[in-house]
Amino acid sequence: MTRFSITFAAAALACAAIGITVSSAADPAPAGDNAEVQAQAATQGLAFKDGRYRDKDGKPSPAVTKDYKVDWATWQGFRRYHDACHVCHGPNALGSTFAPSLGDSLKTMDYETFFGVVVGGRIADRGGTKYVMPAFGEDRNIMCYLDDIYTYVKARSNNMADPKTGMPAGRPNGREDISPEAKKAAADCTG
Ligand code: HEC
Repeated sequence: MTRFSITFAAAALACAAIGITVSSAADPAPAGDNAEVQAQAATQGLAFKDGRYRDKDGKPSPAVTKDYKVDWATWQGFRRYHDACHVCHGPNALGSTFAPSLGDSLKTMDYETFFGVVVGGRIADRGGTKYVMPAFGEDRNIMCYLDDIYTYVKARSNNMADPKTGMPAGRPNGREDISPEAKKAAADCTG
């Protein structure tokens, strides 16, 4: 817990510097863009299952409207990414000198590989310097929201590949409300 409090404080500071607000659990962002986001998901051919939108293979998939209102998972992932990942991977999934841009990674990396790295971690040694990706498999604060983080990074990745799609850097302009299914899934997971 201590480690995560420190990480959060560092993330909040860094976010303040670039103008992203890290929301607390009581989250004041505009909600209620349900109809718009649902219409967008339908345009993309996504199905809603177990509290999130999924592509034809059943993988979590972002729904982002033309004016950058997002589905609940992308919104939640945006917040969680900027709590837990951005200290190393940089704001907006753009990477840092220490860790790669996850937006770039998801241009080619599949869902299972992404999950595997986060669960098991990874250590690289380049010229004697160790680059450590922590293993988060035991950490419910990460694992219970990893599908959301994946969805957000995918939205960024889509935008980095084609600026007419996905989510640009920064905060979403609006979002869907949490669904009863998503609320239940999170509650069941965090216990
Ligand atoms: C303490 C720093 C740190 C934190 C925090 C961190 N990572 Fe990493 N991560 C790294 C480093 C360093 C690498 C690259 C390791 C290597 O070079 O093999 C990495 C690699 C990855 C990769 C593989 C990327 C690729 O293209 O091979 C994924 C996926 C990943 N991290 C996801 C995450 C997610 C999701 C979070 C937040 C829950 C997170 N990381 C938090 C340091 C971190």
